[in-house]
Formats: sequence, C-alpha cells, structure tokens
Amino acid sequence: MTIDSAGASVADRVRAVVAAHRDDRGALLPILHDIQAEFGYIDQAVVPVLAEELNMSRADVHGVITFYSDFRSEPAGAATVRLCRAEACQSVGAERLVADAEQVFGVKLGQTTPDRSVTLQQVFCLGNCALGPAAEINGRPFGRVDRSRLIEILASRETGGAP
Ligand code: FES
Repeated sequence: MTIDSAGASVADRVRAVVAAHRDDRGALLPILHDIQAEFGYIDQAVVPVLAEELNMSRADVHGVITFYSDFRSEPAGAATVRLCRAEACQSVGAERLVADAEQVFGVKLGQTTPDRSVTLQQVFCLGNCALGPAAEINGRPFGRVDRSRLIEILASRETGGAP
C-alpha cells in the first residue's frame, strides 16, 4: 500500500469509500465506481481491502472488476474514447469504426496507448442511436463518427478548438 500526498494510505481511502456505503445492500458496484472516481482506476491493491471489508473472497471481488468493462485496471489516457457496438450502431458501421480506431491508435478495445493519450473502450448503446455510429469522448457525445471524424475530433481537442 502506498501513502498519498495527504498522508492517507490507499487502504484508508478505500475503507472510507466502503464506509460511505455501509448501509447499502449489494454495494460492491457503487463502491467500485466510487473507487474508480477517487483514484482514476482500480488498482489490484484494493482487492484484498475490499474483500476484507465486504466479507467476500478476493476472487469474487476480482471477478466483478474484470467482468464490467467500465472498470479500468490502469490510469486512463488523456482522452477516453468509447465506441458504441450495440445493434443500431452496428447496422451503420460501428464495427468498421472500431477496426479503424484500433488501427489509428494502435491499441485494442480496453487498452490505452503507450503515450497515455487515448484509452479505447466499447460501450453498448449511448442513447444516441439515431446518429450512429455513436461515440463518447471524455463524456461528450458525438454522432455519425467515422475514421476521419474521429481523428478530427481528437485533433481539435488537442489544439483546443471546437470539434
Ligand atoms: S445503439 Fe449505439 S447509441 Fe444506441
């Protein structure tokens, strides 16, 4: 366990998150979301702390973390690009966009580029089905995304311009 600049250990911070959900039933998922919000990702070091606090096995905690693609095991890149792969977007080219994005960034879904500029993720419906292929970049929705538009959006982010 490491000590952060404020002097609190990771374990202490994880226990504080668990304590905030003490009265919730089946609180593992909201606890994991809060831990990811707190640290930016879910480090393996939190697994034994959560297992102890929630009276679960380490394998069960680890299984939940790895089952949900929302949870990251390493810090995200500067831009988190989430590409929709649900049916409506698939019918208008989502798989092509995923393949293009993997080629452009040189990583697979779920991975972060070595320079930590982009984390590429999949998602199943962003609620933007009429404008597929849909994407979300750092929480902001984009529609009718193709290879060139994806590059254009990220380039405009880097230069501070409007997408
Ligand atoms: S199916 Fe892609 S946004 Fe709904």
